[in-house]
Amino acid sequence: MGTALLAFKDLTRPLDDEGRRLVVSGKIEPGEVLFVRGPSGAGKSTLLKILGRILTASGGEAWLRGCSWKDIPAPQWRLKVQYVSQKPVVFDGTVEDNLLMPFRFRLLKHKPSPPREQIKEYLEELQLPATLLDQPAKTLSGGETARMALIRSLLLEPEVLLLDEPTASLDENNRQHLNTLLQYWVVEKPRGIVMVSHNEQDLQAFPKRNSLFIG
Ligand SMILES: Nc1ncnc2c1ncn2[C@@H]1O[C@H](COP(=O)(O)OP(=O)(O)O)[C@@H](O)[C@H]1O
Ligand SMILES: [Mg+2]
Repeated sequence: MGTALLAFKDLTRPLDDEGRRLVVSGKIEPGEVLFVRGPSGAGKSTLLKILGRILTASGGEAWLRGCSWKDIPAPQWRLKVQYVSQKPVVFDGTVEDNLLMPFRFRLLKHKPSPPREQIKEYLEELQLPATLLDQPAKTLSGGETARMALIRSLLLEPEVLLLDEPTASLDENNRQHLNTLLQYWVVEKPRGIVMVSHNEQDLQAFPKRNSLFIG
């Protein structure tokens, strides 16, 4: 599939019992943001979950840097292509416990935990105080939880982020800070982002972008 960072072709999944189906193809080049747009219920979240291999497709195929997902076990794929849910999983314990949770899993035993400085940098860039690290994660607001979940994924250093309405619970100011962070992140390596967003400002924040309409 050429030089695309992520490509997917004819990904298919039934959306209901009445024959409504998601069938979608697309790709992202390195450094690019692909915006997924469409009406509520069109299957935008479903597409992200398929790309993140949280849900399986009944047909179609996806490639990461030309390598088919058939040749990459799902746990490995999920580390490289990180799905950040609109309703993130929050574990008991502090925010710091939550951020470091993935590093306790068997798959990541070889990977050292990120330095505290790195975590604090992300917190600062997203306008969160460092004192939040010691706060029970379940006491966070919706907007704080969304940013914690994004940081948790960033710390895993994926190649592609799948972001489901990441700015929906943020005010104008925090939205801008989040987009600024992602702007740098996506071109730094370069990496890629697939983002569901209804916000025109989110689109305008990324010069190298494409849109995919579904539904
Ligand atoms: N777990 C599920 N069981 C049954 N139907 C589902 C499930 N998850 C999503 N759907 C249905 O699939 C369709 C697409 O959902 P979704 O991908 O969340 O849409 P969007 O994110 O575009 O609003 C909707 O009609 C929704 O009701
Ligand atoms: Mg959705």
